[in-house]
Amino acid sequence: MPVLLQKSKVYIETYGCQMNVADSEVVMGILNSQGYAMTQEVREADVVLLNTCSIRDNAEQRIYGRLGNFKALKDKKPEMILGILGCMAERLRKDLIEEKKVVDLVVGPDEYRRLPELIDAAFGGEKGIGVKLSRSETYEDILPFREDGLHAWLSVMRGCDKFCSFCVVPFTRGRERSRSLESIVNEVTLLSSRGFHEVTLLGQNVNSYLDEKNDFADLLNAVASVDRKMRIRFSTSHPQDLSDKLLYTIAENDNLCNYIHLPVQSGSNRILELMNRTYSIEHYLGLIEKAREIIPNVSFTTDIISGFPTETHEDHLATLAVMQKVKYDGAYMFKYSPREGTKAFKMEDDVKEETKSKRLQEIIALQQQISFDLNQILLEKKEIVLVEGASKKSENFLSGRTDANKVVIFPRQENIGEGDYVEVLINRATSATLFGAVVSVLDNKDFSEISLAV
Ligand code: SAH
Ligand code: SF4
Ligand code: F3S
Repeated sequence: MPVLLQKSKVYIETYGCQMNVADSEVVMGILNSQGYAMTQEVREADVVLLNTCSIRDNAEQRIYGRLGNFKALKDKKPEMILGILGCMAERLRKDLIEEKKVVDLVVGPDEYRRLPELIDAAFGGEKGIGVKLSRSETYEDILPFREDGLHAWLSVMRGCDKFCSFCVVPFTRGRERSRSLESIVNEVTLLSSRGFHEVTLLGQNVNSYLDEKNDFADLLNAVASVDRKMRIRFSTSHPQDLSDKLLYTIAENDNLCNYIHLPVQSGSNRILELMNRTYSIEHYLGLIEKAREIIPNVSFTTDIISGFPTETHEDHLATLAVMQKVKYDGAYMFKYSPREGTKAFKMEDDVKEETKSKRLQEIIALQQQISFDLNQILLEKKEIVLVEGASKKSENFLSGRTDANKVVIFPRQENIGEGDYVEVLINRATSATLFGAVVSVLDNKDFSEISLAV
């Protein structure tokens, strides 16, 4: 009787930022090309990988909790390999193997090519560790493993050289390096031919993208011209390097979304300096003003930290004031969390927990009010929406997103499906969602006209 060789199955769970999501697809691409099969079902898996995040203490605590669940699974199935990938692997290294005895593998973000070899060794009973950071690894020759879909994440650069004083990323992800423009354009071309309708280009600071003479604006221009029906987004921009050229490029290309994620972190110049953010609030607000002149209807989202060391009530009020001035469409808001090894870690974490929480609540409440007010302005206006599929709550409704990444819900129509662009008249709005009715379905002709206009 022939022996049926079964492929080993890999289950991967991803935490943290979108770059980790993209990395997990790279990891699956590497393992898939070595004959591993992927599974969504952890109980079926021979190899269980957690792609982890270290950005704040609560992110790590959550992952430790999950590791506890997997330990219980491994107790029942000792031959299962359990591995930690990503930023926690890089930060904690062999401590993870020594302290958390259940872990067989610890592999940092720049060593994923070694995974097949390390997994093989782990099957042989060895503990595997690969945590060297690289100055050149971009995985640009690896085809990420992606399910078919509407939207794809695509890392265009890795690492970060900014060293904001609170942030662990430069330590877990190493130095900044960019993928070649050609490899990115090729991947976007492939995604377009597979029917993807939206790509988000990723980097911790995409504005420092550089491939020989090509900067990020050149990259965006090249990517936008691959398929004019494909929406292109990007994240994250650092306020220090957002160039006029980039703003004009966004304005000139209809399929580059008029949407910029521009983390401000704090509204106080004193705190920004302690954070090593390298810009002042005046510079930041100047950028926002310039972007609004160059790109009509541009919308902004941001990141804000409450309770950075020495933050006073006045500093906090300055943050609220900036939010009022800019009127962000959305914000990711966090309590400061000290990270070992960073510059801020040496400062006393002197803002009391209850003060941090209270300030954060005020920041969240203000942002909700601003988002609500901005969304009311859209009432009775038409928005172009890329349809994503059934809404979460009901099959009778479809859901999609606007250029500014706002979710729009509208009644299902037979002639409309995933990947279509429709024009929706907005008739109701909360702080998080817009509701409306379709007034027209845009066909390819509309898009070729847009392309001609560019
Ligand atoms: N590279 C991106 C963001 C990376 S991390 C940028 O520069 O904008 C995402 C967000 O997490 C940061 O913008 C910051 O607001 C938050 N963050 C990072 N380190 C933190 C810490 N130690 N405590 C609280 N929030 C933190
Ligand atoms: Fe962290 Fe600052 Fe780099 Fe963003 S730019 S990843 S906040 S060090
Ligand atoms: Fe977290 Fe690492 Fe991203 S620390 S936010 S997964 S770069």
